[in-house]
Amino acid sequence: MKEIVPAPPAIVRNDYESIRELFAKNVVPSYGRFEIVLSHGAGSYLFDVTGKRYLDLGSGIAVCSLGHAHPAITEALGEQSKKLIHVSNLYFTEPQGRLAAEIVKRIGAGKCFFANSGAEANEGLFKLARKFGHDEGRFEILTATNSFHGRTLAGIAATGQDKVKKGFEPMMPGFRHIPYNDLEAARAAISPATVAIMIEGVQGEGGVTPATPEYLLGLRALCDEKKLLLLMDGVQCGHFRTGKFQSFQRILEGVPGGEKFLPDGLSMAKSLGGGFPIGAFWVRAPYQDLLGPGTHATTFGGTPLACAVALKIFSVIEAGKLDEQARKLGDWMKNELERLVQMYPTVVKNARGLGFMLGLELADKIPAFAVSDKPASIQFVNRMHEAGVMTIPAGTHVIRLLPALNLEPQEAAEGIAKIEELVKSLV
Ligand SMILES: Cc1ncc(COP(=O)(O)O)c(C=O)c1O
Repeated sequence: MKEIVPAPPAIVRNDYESIRELFAKNVVPSYGRFEIVLSHGAGSYLFDVTGKRYLDLGSGIAVCSLGHAHPAITEALGEQSKKLIHVSNLYFTEPQGRLAAEIVKRIGAGKCFFANSGAEANEGLFKLARKFGHDEGRFEILTATNSFHGRTLAGIAATGQDKVKKGFEPMMPGFRHIPYNDLEAARAAISPATVAIMIEGVQGEGGVTPATPEYLLGLRALCDEKKLLLLMDGVQCGHFRTGKFQSFQRILEGVPGGEKFLPDGLSMAKSLGGGFPIGAFWVRAPYQDLLGPGTHATTFGGTPLACAVALKIFSVIEAGKLDEQARKLGDWMKNELERLVQMYPTVVKNARGLGFMLGLELADKIPAFAVSDKPASIQFVNRMHEAGVMTIPAGTHVIRLLPALNLEPQEAAEGIAKIEELVKSLV
């Protein structure tokens, strides 16, 4: 897709201070924000209120699957909003049914529930697990160290990172953490109360760490043996980002036994709506009717408008073979990042990820960063902003690249060149 990138307005009005003031006075300061006030975007470019242009390699933390201001999304919003924006889930609507069918077609036999965010999709899976184990008194869900599953009370209890829990204790009971990619630790952690194991196919907030094929296949066998549900959080790593619809499909490609692998439940959000809020979870066929009438609901889940946008995104990705593009270009970018690791080991020490979900790990002590007590990842991202490129920090030392699926080859090259320039300057 060719985007026409608009030139900044002729007279640039600097609204930076006044907007910052509105936030300081009126918006709960729960986010650590960068000092940038954005005004508009087109394709993989964003513009701030001063007219500065940024190449967006973060896409709203893996959300804007078709970049910014994509005409197909604008059209879907316009067309559907003229017909029906919202009706209650007391009734049936065509877009929700069709979207569920699109998801089921790409994962396997089962059914979908629609929500509004990733955290909410995970909440639904936690309820599914509790319902599954209820009559036997089983309720405990094992999740991984360094995982991220959302900011609701159950989400922070499920998340394997202390920083999200601090100040909100006591945690909701029923979650314990196990080391990621360690099958024996999972087996050892199972108690009589355990009902499910939930993992991300590729840990995102934890620093871009893919599950190994052995871990996925081993967890499947373990869950079958112990009568546990295997739940996957595909909120960040899903929706073609790794080059396949879901990350497990990419991780297990060509692996003996991999073609038969399915989790029992899988959450989605982020790229599913390309920026329009929607979340969903898929449940494998044997458990698809566990949540019967009256057990789970949300007012805005699966509105005709959200589903029409998500359906349009599926068709644009399919028509443009954007999954293949993400895979090819993402693998090229990863090779380039690996080259930087070879060339500048005192600045970058590891490159990892799949497709358009990439992580670049910074070296422990970068002399230029010693002057500030901000984490190295934040300092690196700030300098990338100065260079006109948006990247996303993960933890204290990892930089994430999560571009739109329609990123163009020359844009990928531009991003890599700017990253290399910065890395070189930090040697
Ligand atoms: C893996 C994962 N799960 C869940 C969430 C929470 O999604 P949301 O912010 O839409 O609630 C996120 C958000 O970053 C995520 O990366």
